[in-house]
Amino acid sequence: MDELTTIGAMRTWSRAQRAAGRTIAFVPTMGALHEGHLSLVRQARAAADRVVVSIYVNPTQFDNPDDLAKYPQTLAEDQAKLAAAGVDAVFLPTTEQMYPNGYCTFIEIVGPLTDKLCAIARPGHFRGVATVVIKLFHAVEPDVAVFGQKDLQQVMIVNRMVNDLDLPIRVLVGPTMREADGLAMSSRNRRLDAGMRERALSLPRGLERARLAYGQGLSDAMKLCEAVYDECLQHEGVEVDYVEVVSLKGFTTAETADDACVLAAAILVDGVRLIDHVALAGTVLPVPLDD
Ligand code: PAJ
Repeated sequence: MDELTTIGAMRTWSRAQRAAGRTIAFVPTMGALHEGHLSLVRQARAAADRVVVSIYVNPTQFDNPDDLAKYPQTLAEDQAKLAAAGVDAVFLPTTEQMYPNGYCTFIEIVGPLTDKLCAIARPGHFRGVATVVIKLFHAVEPDVAVFGQKDLQQVMIVNRMVNDLDLPIRVLVGPTMREADGLAMSSRNRRLDAGMRERALSLPRGLERARLAYGQGLSDAMKLCEAVYDECLQHEGVEVDYVEVVSLKGFTTAETADDACVLAAAILVDGVRLIDHVALAGTVLPVPLDD
């Protein structure tokens, strides 16, 4: 596995692959890798001749300095996992490379994709994500980029940006990988001790309860959201940031749920923020563009 630490070296590597007629699939990450990340790597493997993974904890997407400081970093383990998964190159840029002194250019996303859910509690978060993703795309120049549906709003924003800016990149979406008990895998789960982890399960449980209720005919969005509140708020130290029914057609908040809707929620367990969602129709939804 090759290791590239500068934008120039990364681009030279990618261009050499392209000159040899090979296609490139790219999986951007912030490290602390788990099976969710590795499932995207496998999807990337199947989609192109070469796979590049980046590991970069992007400071511009952290609205909370404490969250950035506590973000888990496990580089040696990550490198071993990527090598074992058959990754061809890992891109490890430094912040001096990504945001040199005087840096002042950002991508701004406007409209329904950034007026709700995580965009409210985390001002500037998606601006930072969009900016780093486009910078990583320029360094790697991939044919295909793979993102997880777990971060639904993120992948919808990236997909939109790729289309709006006419980037010649195909965005693929991988399903959410879960622990055996249903908790969505996340790098932040490393910050949960046994007691916190048990309480964190109220999030997937509440979402599942709501999905079952929808299947039995309940379509009132407020009632579906209540199922998540009821499940989560029984536990001390669990705060609910948002619970919302969102239609993937237009990414609008729905008062009455239908099969195009997801129920999305974010909670804090003793201050650790966790997000998750379910597709109410129970299927893995493709991520459509709003036309
Ligand atoms: P990170 O949280 O490391 O996630 C990297 C990729 O893994 C994202 O596409 C995310 O959606 C996906 N992922 C995370 N948990 C998953 C799970 N349980 N199942 C499937 N996929 C999962 O998302 C980021 O990093 C950053 O915002 C980034 C895009 C790298 C920009 O900095």
